[in-house]
Amino acid sequence: MVIVAAGSGQRLGHGIPKARVLCGGLTLLERSLRSVLDSGVAAEIAVVIPAGDAVLRSVAEGLPGAVPVRVVDGGASRAGSVRAGIAALSTDAPVILVHDAARALTPPEVFRRVVSRLRAGADAVVPVVPVADTVKAVRGGRVEGTPDRNGLRAVQTPQGFTARLLREAHAGTGAGDPLITDDAMLIEATGTPVVTVEGDPAAFKVTTPLDLMLAETLVQTAAGTPPAPTADPEEAPMTESALPPAAPLPRTGIGTDIHAYAPEDAPAPLWLAGLSWEGERGLAGHSDGDVVAHAAADALFSAAGLGDLGTHFGTDRPELAGASGVAILSEAAAIVRGAGFRVGNIAVQLIGNRPRFAARRSEAEAVLSAAAGAPVSVSATTTDGLGLTGRGEGIAALATAVVVHTGNSPVGGGGSANLVQ
Ligand code: CTP
Ligand code: MG
Repeated sequence: MVIVAAGSGQRLGHGIPKARVLCGGLTLLERSLRSVLDSGVAAEIAVVIPAGDAVLRSVAEGLPGAVPVRVVDGGASRAGSVRAGIAALSTDAPVILVHDAARALTPPEVFRRVVSRLRAGADAVVPVVPVADTVKAVRGGRVEGTPDRNGLRAVQTPQGFTARLLREAHAGTGAGDPLITDDAMLIEATGTPVVTVEGDPAAFKVTTPLDLMLAETLVQTAAGTPPAPTADPEEAPMTESALPPAAPLPRTGIGTDIHAYAPEDAPAPLWLAGLSWEGERGLAGHSDGDVVAHAAADALFSAAGLGDLGTHFGTDRPELAGASGVAILSEAAAIVRGAGFRVGNIAVQLIGNRPRFAARRSEAEAVLSAAAGAPVSVSATTTDGLGLTGRGEGIAALATAVVVHTGNSPVGGGGSANLVQ
């Protein structure tokens, strides 16, 4: 089974890869993978993601279950991504299914129907649904004809093929054609029959914001939460079943950061809680060592389920050496918002003997709150002389954050380009 999730989601317009967009609190990729696993048809899964996407890699690799998952980088086109997925599969699979991650709510029965038809002897199988609209052939703004709607079908995924047929089709010269939008097209060109099975309206492709709204409603309905009432509340009395959907529950997160003091022979200025502390001994570390800002950023990622600081700003990012903690916090908040969350608040506790913090608390809170775009409160404590902070070897910070998934991220609300590409 190949699941292609390497597209950028231009038409959805969230500023992050489409497979990372949340639907009912789960990424579209995770929803697709769950329906594949529920179907029980996959012996092995290749998940094709945008090159280097650490979030989608961890979603795919974090899946429970006995089915082996290989995660590979995609190509510039869907067909290129399918090829990368096929190459990652072990060569002994007799049939291969190719599925769009964007068809996140595909019922497990559709997978089973495709596989049954392959078992019954077909070489190429596609799920189809009737076309509701009248379809016209148009060129240059002029209608050229109206194909008989009874003979038309909208085609979905998963599409299933005997493995050799699919590998050969994708190795052929036609596979590079940018007009190739599904795998069956390549088989049709060889003359091998492509047969249909019944698709399902729920296997629609999440392409536009309207599709995402529909997917959210279906997920809420399946979870027993009624979608927002459409009736005029003036006319229809509010019954319990007509109440708007329950507000999404807040999610909490946790973050910790600790830095040792810079060595005596290589002193550094102290940056802490977004402030410069003249005359205080600085901390060693990647970037400016601002443990308060780093713990706050970590808590945000934790709350949103988007990994941690290392996932987004690993030490393999030399451009971040020296980046201020405030810049990292602001970037983390932008990434979390880009994934569809509102930030409630962040609370940080600083643990260390020095500096004496209380006098500058409100100054620090103002700087950090501006960076996060949400209230950040900072408290401070010592550890009665115990542990590494008590012995004066360094400073630690613990943070918690609360976020709420609002479903729709602001358009273009992903990470800004200066730190995250
Ligand atoms: N896809 C892919 N690699 C690409 C392009 C698309 O793996 N280079 C995948 C998408 O992730 C999606 C499926 O192919 O699961 C169908 O593509 P589409 O719905 O067009 O998704 P996007 O290309 O992401 O969206 P858009 O065309 O709006 O940018
Ligand atoms: Mg596309």
